[in-house]
Amino acid sequence: APAVTIPLLQQWARDGRLLVMTTAYDSVTARLADPVVDMILVGDSVGNVCLGFDNTLSVSMAMMNHHLEAVARTRPRALLVADMPYLSYHLGLEDTLRNAGGFLQRGAAAVKLEGGGKRLEVIRALVDCEIPVMGHLGLTPQSVHAMGGFKVQGRAAQDAIRILEDAHRLQEAGCFALVLEGIPSELAARITQSLSIPTIGIGAGPHCSGQVLVLHDVLGLTQGHRPKFVRTYIDGFDLLQQALAHWADDVRGGVFPSAAESYSLPAASQKAVCT
Ligand code: KIV
Ligand code: NA
Repeated sequence: APAVTIPLLQQWARDGRLLVMTTAYDSVTARLADPVVDMILVGDSVGNVCLGFDNTLSVSMAMMNHHLEAVARTRPRALLVADMPYLSYHLGLEDTLRNAGGFLQRGAAAVKLEGGGKRLEVIRALVDCEIPVMGHLGLTPQSVHAMGGFKVQGRAAQDAIRILEDAHRLQEAGCFALVLEGIPSELAARITQSLSIPTIGIGAGPHCSGQVLVLHDVLGLTQGHRPKFVRTYIDGFDLLQQALAHWADDVRGGVFPSAAESYSLPAASQKAVCT
């Protein structure tokens, strides 16, 4: 079992300690994140962030398993959560259990899946099979076409009440925590204070039990539009590209590699080779 367990996270949340989750998709990002956060999510955001897709709908179980395995090989101490991709939990319980169970066999401690009332049967089946489930409500990126874009959810009173009710149904179905994405702060606060399981917010204001951001967003590695809920702590893309350009300049200027960065022939071989 990892050092950070589900009961421990739930205790921390009850104690008022804010929980921290970020994404990792490979061993480098896992090693960056692990000493810093409580939970590592192998998110289906790997599709946009690393694989060049416009949304998460094209991410497959094979892709998720590939990335999860790379993260799991680092043996993180943080709780490792694997995101169920589109169509991996929509085609029947047997298929869903096989996919989710495969994540646990690859080293995840829990799975995450998107949606409310429509997902209760699936969640109950997973929990029945000893697979811990993190729910995900509000702006659920796999619903991009149904939502008509990546838009804040739950602004109208009836939509807000539906999300609040869904949160309670997910808790009753056995979720150990919920991600709340892209909803008004007041709604996230109301959900958080009325649930007994922790809420992890992203674009859901400060009154959640914790926060999640995509690691590449925090580090400024993602290009193009960044939603307003992202706070970037370093211009990683520019800084890393400057370092790379510096190396390229050194190569072109003939100053890389130096003698110290090169191997030399022993004297005995030099005579044979260099004369
Ligand atoms: O895929 C992902 O990165 C996520 C988080 C942003 C919650 O689902
Ligand atoms: Na996701």
